[in-house]
Amino acid sequence: MHTPVSNQIIRLGQTESTNRQLLQLSSQESLEEGAVLVADFQTHGRGQGSNVWESDSGKNLTFSILFYPVFLRASEQFIISKAVSLAMCDFISRFVAGVSVKWPNDVYVGKQKITGILIENTVEGQYLKKTIAGIGVNINQERFFSNAPNPVSLFQLTGKHFNLEECLTEVLQAINARYKQIVEGYAATLHDDYLRHLYRLGEWAPFSAAGETFEARITGVNSVGMLEMITRDNQLRTFGFKEVEFVK
Ligand code: BTN
Repeated sequence: MHTPVSNQIIRLGQTESTNRQLLQLSSQESLEEGAVLVADFQTHGRGQGSNVWESDSGKNLTFSILFYPVFLRASEQFIISKAVSLAMCDFISRFVAGVSVKWPNDVYVGKQKITGILIENTVEGQYLKKTIAGIGVNINQERFFSNAPNPVSLFQLTGKHFNLEECLTEVLQAINARYKQIVEGYAATLHDDYLRHLYRLGEWAPFSAAGETFEARITGVNSVGMLEMITRDNQLRTFGFKEVEFVK
């Protein structure tokens, strides 16, 4: 039986990266499932691939949460991405409309990115052993300076400042609820919800892959998390992470 998560919170003023720090801590001491490491500032906040994550000190939420999804096969790991990105949609949708998930797990409001997610898994045999889900939510930041594409904060969208502690409590509740759906076997519901929130599902749009630009329509996401689309000339194409880009 999988025990429910309890969110033990570890707070740091500054760290290199909450993902990195939580991974290190979790290998040094036994942390409960759901343990959270939150920092006011990351000196090397990490994004997907070689990207960096921009976040002014004390303005936003930058944290990582630990899971032990030992009941999931490594090939099923995209379920965690779906659950976490949907949880962030659940949270952001309390304040603004037009929230979606840009594949694989960026949370967007309209055409702007409000939340980035970096999920790092440890695998043992065919199963997952440990997952660190790192989340950066733009809350009170007034301006962004890096060359990140289209960042936006809740402040910029609403003109209001938010209490970060209250936001963290609500975000964790949303994540716990979505993780519970995985544990309790509601993977199909999560998948349907994910598709319902998927940015540009079913719309003709320009994409680029391997130096070629083409028009296609997203039709779904397969069980290992690859993006499926159909091109104007009726080809079915499937892409893994970083193999395809949204042109605009
Ligand atoms: C992305 O969109 O490229 C992913 C960004 C993930 C940023 C968060 S902030 C907290 C956690 N710690 C990190 O170093 N990165 C993630």
